[in-house]
Amino acid sequence: MKSSIVFSILLIAASANALYIPAGADASMDRRDEIIRRGKDGKGPTPTAEEKRKAANDKFQEMKSHVLHGKDAKGKDEAPDKGRHALTAYCKANPKATGQCNTKTNLCHVPDANKSLWDDRPGKHTLQQIENHCTDAILNHTKNPTNKAHVVKTDAGHHICVKYISGENNGGTGTCYHAGVNVPEGGLAGDTCDHTGNTAIDKADRADFKCSAL
Ligand SMILES: *[C@@H]1O[C@H](CO)[C@@H](O)[C@H](O)[C@H]1NC(C)=O
Ligand SMILES: *[C@@H]1O[C@H](CO)[C@@H](O)[C@H](O)[C@H]1NC(C)=O
Repeated sequence: MKSSIVFSILLIAASANALYIPAGADASMDRRDEIIRRGKDGKGPTPTAEEKRKAANDKFQEMKSHVLHGKDAKGKDEAPDKGRHALTAYCKANPKATGQCNTKTNLCHVPDANKSLWDDRPGKHTLQQIENHCTDAILNHTKNPTNKAHVVKTDAGHHICVKYISGENNGGTGTCYHAGVNVPEGGLAGDTCDHTGNTAIDKADRADFKCSAL
């Protein structure tokens, strides 16, 4: 009798233990969000702008190979339609694809796959610039969580609309891509924006591309 009570207590203790969620990856994610969000009235020392940016960039690093190269966290190729938001990597995996770019913003779209692409051919967006723009969007999104995308200013001086989705919401590493090839109406860096369309509004800025001819 006594030993069965002890046994039950042990069982209860063991199952209660199982309810504790180990403080692992989630805690570090929260920590990064906290660094990005903490304002002047937050508790403890206010993170510097560099610390906030680093926390946002750390989040991008987890999705970088997916977003830019279509590779998973272990470096394995994902299906050709996954990630690969840079034109060169997408075309390599999808040689038959065709689409259209906006030659002002250098943002492109593949209608058949509804794929949003950064033109990363020479003189357009470098992979480092894409990383910077996504980091901007992550910073802004974490400060102002919303389903909407955020306006980012490119090095060429264009405002564009960039969407970030955290890993918690897409069941993977998270992702980042442009939300439309046009400049959002009246948006300043950090504002939220709606999708700006898949074709250049100004006909003079439309340029077709064929992956096979890149
Ligand atoms: C195309 O993709 C964008 C971005 O993922 C999404 O918002 C939109 O709903 C998609 N459109 C269609 C027709 O699936
Ligand atoms: C959004 O990011 C931009 C950099 O593109 C930064 O200048 C701005 O302060 C950020 N805005 C907010 C609300 O975080």
